[in-house]
Amino acid sequence: MNVSDTVHYVFLAAAACFVLGLHLMNHPRTARRGNTLSAAAMAVAIAATVWLVADEGTISRTGWLVLASGGLVGAALGLYAAREVEMTAMPQLVSLFNAVGGGAAALIAVNDLLRIENAGARVSVPGALDIVIGAVTFSGSLVAAGKLQGLVSGAPIVFPGARPLNVLLPASFVAGSVWLVLAPNSRTALYGLVAVALLFGVTLVLPIGGADMPVVIALLNAFTGSAVAMAGFVLDETALIIAGMLVSSSGGILTKLMADAMNRSIAGIMVGGFGTSDSAPATGGTGGVPAQVRSVSADDVAVQLAYASKVVFVPGYGLAAAQAQHELGDLAKLLTGHGIDVSYAVHPVAGRMPGHMNVLLAEANVPYTQLKEMDEINPEFPQADVALVIGANDVTNPIARRPGNAISGMPILDVDKARSVVVIKRSMGHGYAGIDNELYTNPKTGMFFTDAKKGLSELKAAVGEFVG
Ligand code: TAP
Repeated sequence: MNVSDTVHYVFLAAAACFVLGLHLMNHPRTARRGNTLSAAAMAVAIAATVWLVADEGTISRTGWLVLASGGLVGAALGLYAAREVEMTAMPQLVSLFNAVGGGAAALIAVNDLLRIENAGARVSVPGALDIVIGAVTFSGSLVAAGKLQGLVSGAPIVFPGARPLNVLLPASFVAGSVWLVLAPNSRTALYGLVAVALLFGVTLVLPIGGADMPVVIALLNAFTGSAVAMAGFVLDETALIIAGMLVSSSGGILTKLMADAMNRSIAGIMVGGFGTSDSAPATGGTGGVPAQVRSVSADDVAVQLAYASKVVFVPGYGLAAAQAQHELGDLAKLLTGHGIDVSYAVHPVAGRMPGHMNVLLAEANVPYTQLKEMDEINPEFPQADVALVIGANDVTNPIARRPGNAISGMPILDVDKARSVVVIKRSMGHGYAGIDNELYTNPKTGMFFTDAKKGLSELKAAVGEFVG
């Protein structure tokens, strides 16, 4: 068997490992293994590609130098970013990775179209698609990362003529792509297409509110996959095509699942405007505490917890913001040690990114058997003596069951069906959807106004005195 054949078998094995890796990511217990397997398969696929290139002998000494330094700098930056980035800044990092992936894929097509004289349709068609999808992803992902990082305003930015422009730009890259396919040597068509696609990425993402960015990032991630697959067609590389399509389809499925869990359409999200002044706040306001709200102290809550037989924790974005997962895990251990049945209710869009709560709770070494998804935990709430909500808001808001508001129809955790409810948050402030939560004025709810980390530490100390 020659080197090319061997390398193609390696690509096939790597592709099988990617699929298996994705499958293992289905469950928190096996997710880490899935990630390691996929990363190892990618490393092997890269090594095999380098072997193939070396065997063909087409790269000059300078080319090898560029390849090696690019690989080293990229790997070092990736490793540094992945290790150092705060959990709460993960969506921005993913967005930057998308930008790099999309940009690299577009550059591959640009390079091939510049290099190959009179490229046939086999190169120019996927090349044009690669440029469009890759360049839109590149600039769109940079704007998305900027919005999440606060470098670009998180509010939807709508300028006069934005909507007609967002129709005109796609129309012009359809025209530009046709021109490039018909005249693959035309530099005007090539650079014009790149410029229009880059501009469209910016005008597409600017009008979308910062809070919708995770869904947009998942969508751009799907775009990156498609761009990479197109680059695979341009280069005639099976491994790129398979890896790209896997990213594309899983990113697409994830986008759909997130949009469904928020009860919104992907098109509605892309049109923008959610989470801003157009979702009117209900009665009460941010900051002020209405008279019917009952405030409770750490000692009050500790008594309830210590005498409960079943407690359900409901974590949300505030737990992530306060980085209070370890304090929560410690409190749960204390209660479990006292014979109390403890579980965690995980809503699919609690927090700000897919699997946000799972990642945090895994970091605190919470037993997987105690994690319960929405459909599993909802029937258990009526038997819970205490539902302790930690920094979750929208995902517990009973108003979602009624029509005519920003979260109507969004599936929620039935926290209000528990025998008693305690909510830890700092104020009456809104969550992502910007509306009041009816749970807070429910007579069986006690509000423990404090930072989640501080509140959970106080609770742990207070419960310790009762059960210790
Ligand atoms: P949210 O509704 O956003 O509410 C979070 C609450 O945490 C806030 O009301 C805030 O109240 C509280 N909080 C913030 N910092 C805190 C701290 N240090 N200590 C204690 N509490 C703190 O969160 P959720 O219930 O998790 O819902 C998630 C929302 O994000 C949903 O509307 C969902 O549709 C949306 N979303 C989710 C995703 C994904 S994939 N997860 C993607 C896009 C959008 P105070 O300011 O009063 O403390």
